[in-house]
Amino acid sequence: MAKELLSVQPYKGTRDFYPEDMDLRNWFFGVIKDTLRKFNYREYDGPMLESYDLYAAKSGEEIVNEQTYHFEDNGGRMLAVRPEMTPTVARMVAAKLGSLNMPLRWFSIPNLYRYEKPQRGRLREHWQVNVDMFGSDSIETDFEILLVASNLLKAFKADETMYCIKINNRRFYNDLFEQYMGFDKEKSRKVSKAIDKKGKMSAESFNDYLADLGLNEEEISKLNSFFTKSFEEMMELCPESQGTKELVELFKLIKAANLENVCEFDFSIIRGFDYYTGTVFEVYDKDINNNRAMFGGGRYDNLINLFVDKANVSGIGFGFGDVTLENFLVSHNLIPELKSNMPKVLITRFPEIPYIEYLKLGELLRDNNISATVYTDSKKLAKQMKYAADEKYDYAIILGEDELKNNTVVLKDLSIGENMTIARGELVNKILNK
Ligand code: HAM
Repeated sequence: MAKELLSVQPYKGTRDFYPEDMDLRNWFFGVIKDTLRKFNYREYDGPMLESYDLYAAKSGEEIVNEQTYHFEDNGGRMLAVRPEMTPTVARMVAAKLGSLNMPLRWFSIPNLYRYEKPQRGRLREHWQVNVDMFGSDSIETDFEILLVASNLLKAFKADETMYCIKINNRRFYNDLFEQYMGFDKEKSRKVSKAIDKKGKMSAESFNDYLADLGLNEEEISKLNSFFTKSFEEMMELCPESQGTKELVELFKLIKAANLENVCEFDFSIIRGFDYYTGTVFEVYDKDINNNRAMFGGGRYDNLINLFVDKANVSGIGFGFGDVTLENFLVSHNLIPELKSNMPKVLITRFPEIPYIEYLKLGELLRDNNISATVYTDSKKLAKQMKYAADEKYDYAIILGEDELKNNTVVLKDLSIGENMTIARGELVNKILNK
């Protein structure tokens, strides 16, 4: 009977990261970390497993009931594999509330798991850059978060034609539903869930959905007009709302900072999580093949209160996924050739020369910030050279009997295929000062 072999495929919706994939991931994270450090955000991390209750409390029905991987541990505790980072960071801030100096600017790049239908831009495991500020509820803080989001894309050399930040405000739309439309809290909640799903259905199905929620024709038509009215017209519908005031102030800052070409008000931005209370936003790629949000975030006033009663510490931030980032950078041709900034040298070997001679050379180069590999097998020189070319080494070094006697090496510059014999004492300088 034939032996049954195991599959080499990773679990559906997850990825293996081969070295070239890690090069890309490390480059992504390097650019992101450098940018965030320029704004003085500090990195934190937390555990991958959390109590299931942490998400059940505030994340929202879909993510908790349909997308969270959860299980009972051997001690009978219900745990979840983190589907998002915001509850973890809120818990961490709450745990040290007394000793943290506000406002806090923190970031993290966790891998998250969601039981999703894998598709372009959405997988079951992704890495998500989380950028959050705690302890300040000024509108300048909301603006800073948008600025950071925009600067992250600019750090990858994206320009204004490539992406767009769509902004709404939960206080605004709740007040609009309750005061202008006359909906009660439950109806408002259901209508906002319907709007959140609007992008995934036809206009007709959206109207049917609203009718099923009990909206009459006039209400449906009013609601649809919210997606076409100008920002000013929308603000006039609910002038006394705190949300209106926040939006107006936020857009003043956006204009003053010349970000109006990348920021727009969009009433369809609702955000699925229950914890948001004020500004909400998503960043979209303008390439229509990448129609999923790249960033999502907003202000959440009450998450810390889950852990500390009447804490009165508001947070605001966003998550930005690696899957959509890669699609974005590929679509706009923004991935450069990734190369280490250290020259890469292969020290080839002849079996008749003691291995230790090659090792000494390797140590000398590495001590001088040159990455050096000593070939460990005894293959023909031509094979070693082919390996150096295939692996994109910058140089190969040849050390035979003559060179050993004369205290020299042959240095081959693989980019131009040129050989030169040089004294060992000059080797490091020659490589570093090309
Ligand atoms: P989110 O909108 O669920 O927000 O996710 C933020 C971003 O993570 C999305 O725009 C997308 O780029 C990426 N993302 C989410 N799910 C997936 C997936 N299944 N596959 C690939 N990428 C994905 C949050 O998670 C909030 N906790 C963000 C936040 C931080 N709000 C405030 N602070």
